[in-house]
Amino acid sequence: MHIRILGSGAGGGFPQWNCNCNNCRRIREGNFNGTARTQSSIAISSDNEHWVLFNASPDIRAQLESFPPLQPGRAVRDTGICAIVIVDAQIDHTTGLLMLREHTEPWDIYCTEAVKDDLSTGFPIFNILEHFRGVNWHKVNTDQSSFEIPQAKGLRFTAVPLKSEAPPYSPHRHNTVPGDNIGMKIEDTNTGKTLFYAPGLGVIESHVKDYMENADCILVDGTMWTNDEMSHEGISDKLASEMGHLDQSSKGGIMETLNSLSKPRKILIHINNTNPILDESTPERATLDAANIEVSYDGMDIHL
Ligand code: MLT
Ligand code: MN
Ligand code: ZN
Repeated sequence: MHIRILGSGAGGGFPQWNCNCNNCRRIREGNFNGTARTQSSIAISSDNEHWVLFNASPDIRAQLESFPPLQPGRAVRDTGICAIVIVDAQIDHTTGLLMLREHTEPWDIYCTEAVKDDLSTGFPIFNILEHFRGVNWHKVNTDQSSFEIPQAKGLRFTAVPLKSEAPPYSPHRHNTVPGDNIGMKIEDTNTGKTLFYAPGLGVIESHVKDYMENADCILVDGTMWTNDEMSHEGISDKLASEMGHLDQSSKGGIMETLNSLSKPRKILIHINNTNPILDESTPERATLDAANIEVSYDGMDIHL
């Protein structure tokens, strides 16, 4: 399977429009050893022709322009995207659906009932799309049963319920329900290779660790290096954990789990603009390098 990183940044992207943090300021000044990042999205295909889009970011227009296989090639109105999977109802993962409104057929969208609820109430994108070609919703179950997407031959999907947070506008903001956030195991049925993808991971429960241990590659939450990172520069007193993201570096943080895994290739995604790992010269980045943990970037290709 071919995995294309369309956007490796967290909500806001890097640099964020209104942010003058150490990273955002320096990349604007041209004084930064690293690259800009658009918001969280990937595309996956097993035949390099039919692509499943995972999450639709507000940056999708530029992301599609950066990757020819997703562009129209066969008809006057056309796309390489055959279906869309949404892992949560956050703005960075869903707003791009509005940019895709010109599609000539209803979009085949795969998400949980909880996410569909949010996208029909607190952030009613699905209702808005009904005024265009509409949405063909496919329910993703949270019982870890696997499913296929008929147009995406050679791929098999298993949704994995995760503990994280529902978005601020969600009716279940303060009492999260199973399905507010999922990770996804994606298997190439020809090669047997598997990816585990979880851009928002609040707690590594034992079932999640099992998926991580057995995958050939994991692409997981790289939002923040420290739980209180946003407060360092006076940006916000919000903790990563309050936003449903487990930090990398603390005791019990993501790195500790990653270091205990021997099989998978380990890659971080959904990286917030405040995270020191964006700068390839920092000691934090050197710590990841030494641990063989990669930091994804826009335009990265992964072949499994
Ligand atoms: C998150 O992942 O926590 C959200 O995307 C943050 C945001 O965009 O506001
Ligand atoms: Mn996000
Ligand atoms: Zn910033």
